[in-house]
Amino acid sequence: MNELVPLTIVGQGAIGLLAACQLQRQRLPVQLWLRHNESNLRQTGKLSVDFTDLSGQSTSHIYTSVNASVFTTAPATPLITRIVIPVKAYAVLPCLAELQPYLSSQAQLIISHNGMPELEAYQQQLKAEQALWFLSTTQAALRSASGVQHTGIGQSTLAAINPTARKQSASQQQALLQQLTLALGPVTLTADILPVLWQKLAINAVINPITALHRCRNGELAAPELAPLISALLREVCLVAAAEGMDLTYASNLSRVYQVIEATKANKSSMLQDIEHGRPTEINAITGYLLRCAARHKLTLPHNERLLAQVQQLAQGQS
Ligand code: PAF
Repeated sequence: MNELVPLTIVGQGAIGLLAACQLQRQRLPVQLWLRHNESNLRQTGKLSVDFTDLSGQSTSHIYTSVNASVFTTAPATPLITRIVIPVKAYAVLPCLAELQPYLSSQAQLIISHNGMPELEAYQQQLKAEQALWFLSTTQAALRSASGVQHTGIGQSTLAAINPTARKQSASQQQALLQQLTLALGPVTLTADILPVLWQKLAINAVINPITALHRCRNGELAAPELAPLISALLREVCLVAAAEGMDLTYASNLSRVYQVIEATKANKSSMLQDIEHGRPTEINAITGYLLRCAARHKLTLPHNERLLAQVQQLAQGQS
């Protein structure tokens, strides 16, 4: 690989820590960009993470936050050349603004979250020679107070988003792909991310709100009594996708939803984890996005509408 640059990962969410711990286990360079108002960091500037892999094997990891140890003010020579930003959809734009002074003018940025990304808005935050990538992943990980547990094998797809990323050399692309594969398991490169984003949206629109409302693990969605709701939600997603010019076939997506339910059965969905921790959810970038598309096409999605209202109510009740 042409550069073994350290991978910088933003935050301490489940996917970011999964990637960081898997890299560190292989003795590959990785550093975390963390928020210092988090209670577990305030005293030492260090984050301890217990990582449990799929086979149940645990290892302990300690990270010093890169923004505590390296930067006090914006450095003369920006240091970050490759950064994964696996933050919540609603946090991406403020995060890009915060990071920009610390990024190399040719940095590779890899954004990853649930929900439909605002790719245009992200691009506007970057300099011309900074390469923007989006990573969609169905890897399942569970964040706990002490660390992170890998709870289900998923698939990850990477796409170049802006012209700079698209024109990167084959070796630059391979280096990135290889590093992400070491961090998160097999990653496929695609030229057209839209179909992947819609498939992921369909999975998230079903699994996330139902598990949050029922406060159950993903596997419990296989119960036959939930089948009519799952089917109705997915039919609405397919309807709005078709209006947007996307061919999202009901039958194949239904079987994909059930495959993810099975592969991540031990997991608590990210939305359930958000509700349990009193954090904002990504419902607006998932079901909210579907409803905004539907409104443009004068379609109604009663099942998704109801679920959005219920999740919003649940989140309000928490705050
Ligand atoms: O948001 C999540 O939790 C994940 O996208 C998924 C695939 C639903 C697994 O839990």
